[in-house]
Amino acid sequence: MMEKQRYWRNADNQWGLVSRLLHWVMAIFIIGMLAGGLYMAELPNSPFKFELYGIHKAIGIFILLFLIFRLVWRISQTIPTLLRLPQPQQFLAKISAPLMYLVLFIMPLSGIAMSQAGGHPISVFGWVTLPEMIGKNPELGKIAATIHQTTAWILIALIIMHILAAFYHQFCRKDYLLTRMWKKI
Ligand code: HEM
Repeated sequence: MMEKQRYWRNADNQWGLVSRLLHWVMAIFIIGMLAGGLYMAELPNSPFKFELYGIHKAIGIFILLFLIFRLVWRISQTIPTLLRLPQPQQFLAKISAPLMYLVLFIMPLSGIAMSQAGGHPISVFGWVTLPEMIGKNPELGKIAATIHQTTAWILIALIIMHILAAFYHQFCRKDYLLTRMWKKI
């Protein structure tokens, strides 16, 4: 029983199975949303484009729900200790998680605001339609669209830095940071 619990949950030097699964599954979906979002926004208007918008919005809502769960899980768990680094890397490592969460929350929330202020309903694969929290407001819609687009590029930059930092740890400092996010060490 104890063993099982330890495996699911984080420990002082180890991410538990739930955290590792959330990290990798969400990484795939978020990178897919960035690539898919940039692709669909460039398409000329067509039924195909609007079908992609529908899929993008529905997956975005799922990402938001998983993000809330992930944050609650993180707060309720031990966080594996940060590996010792010289300044300013130590500072960057400390702020990277809160910054990543902030940017990740802005993406779906600005997407919801953009759609609803633009007067477009948000249906999750036809199963449920989100209640209207924001009435039609083209001005607000434009602001939300600018936030969504700009934050997408900030997120892309953060993801690139995140990957470079992980490789720096794994291959230059050889401190197994990437390994501990992948499997039990
Ligand atoms: C983590 C979640 C999300 C990511 C990473 C993401 C990413 C993106 C990206 C990269 C674009 C292209 C921006 C551009 O260059 O114009 C885009 C466009 C768009 N997104 Fe998202 N998005 C997310 C969630 C959502 C959600 C939840 C909604 C609505 C419910 C949404 C609605 C839209 C719409 C309508 C567009 C098209 C904007 C246009 O044509 O100008 N997104 N998204």
